[in-house]
Amino acid sequence: MQIVNTVSELREVIRTWRLAGENVAFVPTMGNLHAGHLQLVNEAKKTADRVIVSIFVNPAQFGIGEDFEVYPRTEREDREILDAANTDLLFLPAVGEIYAPDAKTVVTVTELSDLYCGASRPGHFSGVATVVCKLFNIVQPDAALFGLKDFQQLVVIRTMVRDLNIPVEIIGVDTVRESNGLAMSSRNGYLTGAEKSVAPKLYQSLCVARDAVLAGGQSYADIEQQAILFLQKEGFQPDYFCVCRSNDLIKATVEDADLVLLAAAKLGKTRLIDNIYFSR
Ligand code: PAF
Repeated sequence: MQIVNTVSELREVIRTWRLAGENVAFVPTMGNLHAGHLQLVNEAKKTADRVIVSIFVNPAQFGIGEDFEVYPRTEREDREILDAANTDLLFLPAVGEIYAPDAKTVVTVTELSDLYCGASRPGHFSGVATVVCKLFNIVQPDAALFGLKDFQQLVVIRTMVRDLNIPVEIIGVDTVRESNGLAMSSRNGYLTGAEKSVAPKLYQSLCVARDAVLAGGQSYADIEQQAILFLQKEGFQPDYFCVCRSNDLIKATVEDADLVLLAAAKLGKTRLIDNIYFSR
C-alpha cells in the first residue's frame, strides 16, 4: 500500500492509474478503523480497479467542547488494517494540507444540515460537506463509499453531489453491527463496561419502532414517543427519534413508503446514533 501525505503526490499517483485506464473508488474516513470501515473498503474493491482510503480527523466538523482533541488516533493499527485489506493508497494529509489558514469557502447543504444531528451539532454538516467536497476535488474518484450508519451524513453528501454536479457515484454501505446489535462506531470506545451492555438497546428500540410502523394502527408520533420513553427508562438521554422519509429526511406521513427511523441518544458521555431504513 502506498502512503502519501500531499495533494500533489496523490494526484501524480492517480494520474498514472488513469493513464493505464484504471478507475478509482474512494473511502474517506477519520481513522480508528473498525469492521464497518473494512466493509467499505471491501465494497470499494468490488467497484473499481483502485481503492484510495483517506484518514483525516477533520477539525471543521467538530464543535466547541466536542471530542476533536481526544478523538481516537490509531494510525499504526489503521495502516496495518488497510494494508491487509489490499488498499492501494492511503492518503494521510496534515490539517495544513487540506485547509489554507485563510480559507474562506464553506459548503453548506441548507435545511438538511439543521435537522436532527445538525440541530444538536451546529456547523457539523457544513464541516462534513466542505471536507468531502474538497476531498472529491482532490481525488476525483469514480465512486465514493459511505456507511449507512451515518444516514443523515449520507443524505447530506448525496444532496451536495446532486446540487453541485460533482461527477461521482455515491454508494451507501450497510451498517456493520456487533453480535448484540450495537452499530460499530469509533465512539463506542468511549463507553464504559456497564454502558456497553446497555448501548445495544438503541438498536432494539429502532427494531421495535420499525415493527410498530409495519404493523400499522399507531400514529408515528406515538411510536416515537414510546421509543423515547423506553430509552429514558434504560438510562439514555434521547436527543431525537424520528420516522422520516429516507430520500430527504422530512418527517414521514402514512402516505410515504420508503422510510428511515433516525435516532440519537447520549449514554453517559457518549453520543450514539443509529437508524433503520425499510419500505412499507
Ligand atoms: O464519516 C466520517 O468518518 C467523516 O464524517 C467523513 C465522511 C470522513 C468526513 O470527515
